Amino acid sequence: MKQFKLFLLSLILSFSIACQQETSTAAPPDPKADPHSSSQPNEARTTHLDLHLKGDFDKKNFSGYARWTIENKTGATEIIFDTDNIHIEKITLGKEEKPAEYFLVARDSVLGSALKVPIEPGTDLVTIYYSTGPNAPALGWMEPSMTAGKKLPFLFTQGQAILTRSWIPCQDTPANRITYTASIEVPLGMMAVMSAENPQQKSADGQYRFLMEQPIAPYLIALAVGDIAFRPVGQRTGVYAEPAMLDKVAWEFTDMEKMVTTAESLYGPYAWGRYDLIVLPTGFPFGGMENPRLTFATPTVITGDRSMVSLVAHELAHSWSGNLVTNATWNDFWLNEGFTVYFERRIMEALYGKEYTEMLAQLEYWELLDEVKTLGDTSPDTRLKVNLAGRNPDDGVGDVAYQKGSSFLVMLERLTDRTKWDEFLKSWFDTNKFQSKTTEEFLTFLQKNYLEKYGVTANVDEWVYHPGLPANYPKPNSARLANVEKAAVNVATVMPDTKDWTPHEWVHFVRNLPENTDVVTLKKLDKKFHLTTSGNAEIKCAWYEVAIRQGYSPEILPQIEYFLLNTGRRRFLMPIYTAFKEVGRVETARRIFEKAKPGYHAVSRGSVEELLK
Ligand code: BES
Ligand code: ZN
Repeated sequence: MKQFKLFLLSLILSFSIACQQETSTAAPPDPKADPHSSSQPNEARTTHLDLHLKGDFDKKNFSGYARWTIENKTGATEIIFDTDNIHIEKITLGKEEKPAEYFLVARDSVLGSALKVPIEPGTDLVTIYYSTGPNAPALGWMEPSMTAGKKLPFLFTQGQAILTRSWIPCQDTPANRITYTASIEVPLGMMAVMSAENPQQKSADGQYRFLMEQPIAPYLIALAVGDIAFRPVGQRTGVYAEPAMLDKVAWEFTDMEKMVTTAESLYGPYAWGRYDLIVLPTGFPFGGMENPRLTFATPTVITGDRSMVSLVAHELAHSWSGNLVTNATWNDFWLNEGFTVYFERRIMEALYGKEYTEMLAQLEYWELLDEVKTLGDTSPDTRLKVNLAGRNPDDGVGDVAYQKGSSFLVMLERLTDRTKWDEFLKSWFDTNKFQSKTTEEFLTFLQKNYLEKYGVTANVDEWVYHPGLPANYPKPNSARLANVEKAAVNVATVMPDTKDWTPHEWVHFVRNLPENTDVVTLKKLDKKFHLTTSGNAEIKCAWYEVAIRQGYSPEILPQIEYFLLNTGRRRFLMPIYTAFKEVGRVETARRIFEKAKPGYHAVSRGSVEELLK
């Protein structure tokens, strides 16, 4: 609590200084003030969005209007929206659509441009007529060649963390929650789906209407348009995908309904009605994105062996941690992801057992160790509560929020027992549902309803506010992976016995091949186990990285190139491009990137560009 006391002290100090000197402008810091939004929802705030947009796949833009219902309890004389490269046509106030003045503030490279609209005391509606700009980072426009069906183009949006403002002018802070309705017009023959109540069939006229009646943060507004079909997999669960993939997707995620029931038995009722998942084209830059009612997922999870179902457990878990109780700012990102990884593992353990789950946890723990090593264990970015002001909040996305965050909860759980801990977590979700919370609010709740209640103590401050990994970090311990390591060490003399290996064991094996493994051994492995042409992208990625580092890559370069041209997931792109760069083959990397880049989403393109510049 030391840090917190310090913080209180500085609060009091700045207050008293402000009282003494009228000229001081140091306002007390509001723990909810979001450094990544220009909007001031504590003054005039948006409560409901009625969105009307038409998608143009030739021009690659959307145009129409966003009609915002607003609440102005403080008598503010203006309302502020976040925008990024949006072209505003006009703005009107009220039902009668009275023309309004507006001001677009000069663009900030991280925040975009604040849009200030003067309002009157009784203003309840603000309607913004606009079109999206070229290269809006929220919009992933895929050419037909970048889809499975190759006939129709595809579009998906990505809002997290601060991209929604590039397709909808909004108060783009997770502290503000809104409901929405939408009318979306798309070319005939295409289906549109959103993070809302969704159609299950294509419409005859290209018009789609949507309703999201629970209040969500703006980063969770999402839309996908393409040659999409639906298939139920359970009572309230189903999958969307391009028709060519639908069978495979339904097979891969056959356990979705069981997952929802298991999650509910842990932390209370699923609050969103249906839970569906859509598999997007390869250009999707993430593994998964927890858009409410409709998880967005990369096609690389369709492995044919159900080895990536933990991703569904993860995105589903966000229906509680993230979507129901939301991080108030991106500095509190671990509240979303750390809780979600913890919850994901509880679902996995309940459905697939402790041994399997421990193996996944162990692999991710090692990824965390790598990351902490790279950042340095005194780096402020290894704290749970981070300070991302002035930076793109994407910079905070790493294993620390996910793994250290989840391990913090494991440590707390072990102070008492699962029954008490689960009851506590359930009450956290229930008490704070449909609200956005800061780290400090969680810590206060923890103190009162868990630590004090059960008379236990912990080094909470060290975990949350100090860099590095505390001494009481609960380390996973997977016996299965220990065996794999032995096999890797001996690879030059004995080929491994890989019977019953899951893809996770394969990944671990490949990552643990000794540094002096020669090309002859790699070739032998490849001949026997077909790693270069594996159907699993995780295995391929690990293998290609080793191949590049050990000098085996000239032979399999065409396959590596094919992979880079047909995968947009940043998690796979970065290690491979990095390996090329580190062995002095940056020219090869640049050549492939030039070819591949039109197919990458802005998020991935940006990261690779930065690496190779
Ligand atoms: N919400 C995240 C994705 C995200 C985080 C997008 C930050 C933009 C900014 C999602 O839930 C996630 O964590 N996805 C992971 C997969 C998951 C199984 C760990 C990913 O995409 O790799
Ligand atoms: Zn997540």
